[in-house]
Amino acid sequence: MLKKITIIGGLDKNGHTESIQRLEIFPGQVLAVAGPTGSGKTQLIADIEQYREGESPTGRRVLIEGNLSKGSSHHLVAEVSQKMNFIIDTTVEAFLYRHAKVRAIKNPETVIGTVLAVANQLAGEPVSLDDNLTALSGGQARALMVGDVALISRAPVVLVDEIENAGIDRLSAMAILSAHGKIVLVVTHDPTLMLMAGRRVIMKNGGMHKLYRNTPLENTMMEKLAVMERDMSRLRETLRSGRQIIDNHSKKETKDAWQAFFSTARSISAGLSVN
Ligand SMILES: Nc1ncnc2c1ncn2[C@@H]1O[C@H](COP(=O)(O)OP(=O)(O)OP(=O)(O)O)[C@@H](O)[C@H]1O
Ligand SMILES: [Mg+2]
Repeated sequence: MLKKITIIGGLDKNGHTESIQRLEIFPGQVLAVAGPTGSGKTQLIADIEQYREGESPTGRRVLIEGNLSKGSSHHLVAEVSQKMNFIIDTTVEAFLYRHAKVRAIKNPETVIGTVLAVANQLAGEPVSLDDNLTALSGGQARALMVGDVALISRAPVVLVDEIENAGIDRLSAMAILSAHGKIVLVVTHDPTLMLMAGRRVIMKNGGMHKLYRNTPLENTMMEKLAVMERDMSRLRETLRSGRQIIDNHSKKETKDAWQAFFSTARSISAGLSVN
C-alpha cells in the first residue's frame, strides 16, 4: 500500500529555488495544479510520472512511502490525458477482461460490469460491452479509462491533464477516483475543479509558487458552482437534443433551470472578495 508521496522542491526556470519546498499528498486526496500557460504544470506531472530523483530540468525529487514491492514502480502512476486514444481493434469486454486478468482480479465479470456502469455514469453516450474500442468517442474512451483506472488498475497515483474538454462528467470522475483511494493530481484551468480538489498548487515560471487550501468562502462557492454545473448540464442536454428555448413555449423546467443558473451566478459574484 502506498502511504504518501512527497515532492521535494527544486528550481524554477531561472534556476531559483521554488517557493514550495515540500508537498505531501495522501491516498484519497485530490490536488489541483493550476497556473498560466507555460508555467510548468505538465512538467510537474511529468516529474511525478517519471518518478524523478533530481534528474529532470527542475531537479525535483519525488519520494514514495509505503510498501510497494520492488519493480512495481511502473505500476505507480496511471494517466488520464488529453491524448488518449485506443488503437486496439477489440471489444470493450475483451479489453477489460484482459486488463482484469493481467492484474489477477478474482471476479472479473463483476468488476467489468462495475467499470461499465462507471463509464456510463460519466459519459453522455452509453458504452456497451460489445462496442469496438476504436469506435468509441473521445468522451466515451475517457470515461472507460476512468472506470478502468479506478477499479482495475493497481496504480495508486492518477495524473489527469486537462479533463475539461473530455465531454464527461469530470466532477464525478474526480470523486470516483478519490473514493477508490487514489492520489489524484489534476491539471486544470477550471475553477469548479480547482475548488473541488480542496487543495491547489499554483505554478509560476516553472516553480511551485503557492499551495492553498480552500477558504471557507471558497467552499461555499464550490457548492454553488456544483449546483450551477447541474443546471448547465441540463441546459446542455436541452440544446444538444435539438430543443429550443422559446419564451412562451418552452417547458417550465427549462426556464427554471435558466433562472436557477443566473441566480446562483449572481450570488457567487456577490460573495466574492479577492485576496
Ligand atoms: N522548473 C523548470 N525548469 C526548466 N524548465 C522547465 C521548468 N518547468 C517547466 N519547464 C519547461 O517549460 C516548458 C513549459 O512547461 P509546461 O509544458 O509544463 O507548461 P504548462 O503549465 O503545462 O503549460 P500549458 O498550460 O500550456 O499546458 C516545458 O518545456 C517544460 O519542460
Ligand atoms: Mg500543459
